[in-house]
Amino acid sequence: MSKKPIIVFEGIEGSGKSHHINKVSNFLKKNKIKFIKIREPGGSLNSEKIRRLILNKKSNFNTHTDLLLYLAARSENMSLIKKTYKKKIILIDRFTDSTIAYQHFGMGVDLKIINTINRFLLKNIKVNFTFLNIVNKKNLFQRLKKRKSLNRYDQFDMNFYNKVQNGFLKLAKLNKKSYKVINSNLDIKKNEDLIVKQLKKLIK
Ligand code: TMP
Repeated sequence: MSKKPIIVFEGIEGSGKSHHINKVSNFLKKNKIKFIKIREPGGSLNSEKIRRLILNKKSNFNTHTDLLLYLAARSENMSLIKKTYKKKIILIDRFTDSTIAYQHFGMGVDLKIINTINRFLLKNIKVNFTFLNIVNKKNLFQRLKKRKSLNRYDQFDMNFYNKVQNGFLKLAKLNKKSYKVINSNLDIKKNEDLIVKQLKKLIK
């Protein structure tokens, strides 16, 4: 594996993925290890514009439009990812597996279409490792309640989030060697240590 891997943090709302990606970036900064961190949708100027459009509570796009907008947001990040690939560590808060989990497992969009467009966008770029953060119903809704403002995708019911989380777990099962499941219902500090330990293995 490249010593400058692409590492993705996945999980449903309130699963702690953004907390952990921030911890990892602090660790890398402290150790003066070069990296970039982006999020999807968003991460670059144009992708952030698309993010605002998709997640705005007043938007009511259909599921196919949502899919194409998420992929458009990804397309806007690809030049930065391609430029940085194998030169620096790339941390991504959500990536291709979010599209499979939300648009396919959650919303029933054809998986083949998603895979085809992802392949078209990524070409030879490969994610090296994914931390999948999982959360139970109680913690999910407690964490969502604490948010200052909710976006359009923070407001689905448990049935939807269950489908998405189970979808992520199916992907983790298919890719056991390059996935680590982090149970966010357990001690956060222990999870931080677990992630840093795995990170060290990935970049050593
Ligand atoms: P965030 O709040 O974690 O940044 O994520 C924004 C929302 O976008 C989240 O509900 C998941 C959703 N999403 C998709 O549905 N498909 C995708 O491909 C991506 C990247 C995100």
